[in-house]
Amino acid sequence: MHASVRRPPGNPGSDVLVIGGGIIGLVTAWRAAQRGLRTALADPAPGGGAAQVAAGMLAAVTELHYGEETLLGLNLASAQRYPRFAEELAEASGGLDIGFRECGTLAVALDADDRAHLRELHALQQRCGLEAQWLTGRECRRLEPMLAPGVRGGLRVDGDHQVDPRRLAAALLVACERAGVLFHRSAAVRLTVAADRATGAELADGTVVAADQTVLAAGSLSGRLAGVPPEALPPVRPVKGQVLRLTVPPAYAPFLSRTVRAVVRGGQIYLVPRENGELVVGATSEEQGWDTTVTAGGVYELLRDAHELVPGITELPLTETRAGLRPATPDNAPLLGPSTLPGLHLATGHYRNGVLLTPLTGEVLAEVLATGEVPDLARPFSPRRFAAAREESFA
Ligand code: GLY
Repeated sequence: MHASVRRPPGNPGSDVLVIGGGIIGLVTAWRAAQRGLRTALADPAPGGGAAQVAAGMLAAVTELHYGEETLLGLNLASAQRYPRFAEELAEASGGLDIGFRECGTLAVALDADDRAHLRELHALQQRCGLEAQWLTGRECRRLEPMLAPGVRGGLRVDGDHQVDPRRLAAALLVACERAGVLFHRSAAVRLTVAADRATGAELADGTVVAADQTVLAAGSLSGRLAGVPPEALPPVRPVKGQVLRLTVPPAYAPFLSRTVRAVVRGGQIYLVPRENGELVVGATSEEQGWDTTVTAGGVYELLRDAHELVPGITELPLTETRAGLRPATPDNAPLLGPSTLPGLHLATGHYRNGVLLTPLTGEVLAEVLATGEVPDLARPFSPRRFAAAREESFA
């Protein structure tokens, strides 16, 4: 049962304005509306953004990195919520399926260096109490017969699943509409501020949307909104990822039965097979500013590495190439909750984990918006941690 919120009678604005209609903005708006908050969302093309490119791995365990143990807790908490979240979203969207698939992941090594890297990852996973099983090359190929004969070993992680981010975005859009979210199909160009408090935003079409609370959820664009005081501006930068989509013809199915991934020559490669025959291959990681060009080099590297891993991939039709921008922060963790400017909250900086963290982000932001309280597990991800670091460095 959600708490309902008392509003001043005759208030013409919204309780909440969400800036950005990617999956993070949509889930925030949906959950806020479910809590009884009058919610508006500004985006020229809601449902777009990085989710249109992302593969949708829910890879809390296989994408674990040294120094990111606090983030691991958040990632696992969100991964755990996915089954119920998928059900709830199907209900709220009139039956839309988000392609949540409990298929597990196999991370493999192709040479001695990869093997050493994977062994270290396994040791870290064990120290963190995570489930991951070391397999020989032969055992890996028994699970996934399309793997290259040279695979030297691997980690079987049965808890890292997948979802289809495009279907997730589509379902969230419908859920928002059905929950009464008011869509402004125009970009926010300026945050409006009065008496040191955020009061909403001015949009590209000239509309001014007034709101008691504003959530900046514009992915990698979040650091560029005019009107946000410098100390509240999120330190988010774009990190480009190129991704390919191939199709597995029915005669080749099942080509892969789970997500298969590896680190090849220092770069991440992953193959995510969907039930509908789509095979997503990602991803480059490039500090190229706002560039979203698909390059011959990017496509070549992905196909070369994917081919080393699964040679049969060259037989498949290549159906799409695309690049998107991950919103990265200085510590690779998201910014969730109140900023240093009263009335302005952040839901951005999800970097490699936007799809994974969608359920939890919606829950956290709705709690903050409805009660003013930041849930315990979100406290380490306060946007104020960077404002505090900036102040210390000038002290
Ligand atoms: N989490 C996958 C990626 O960022 O490429």
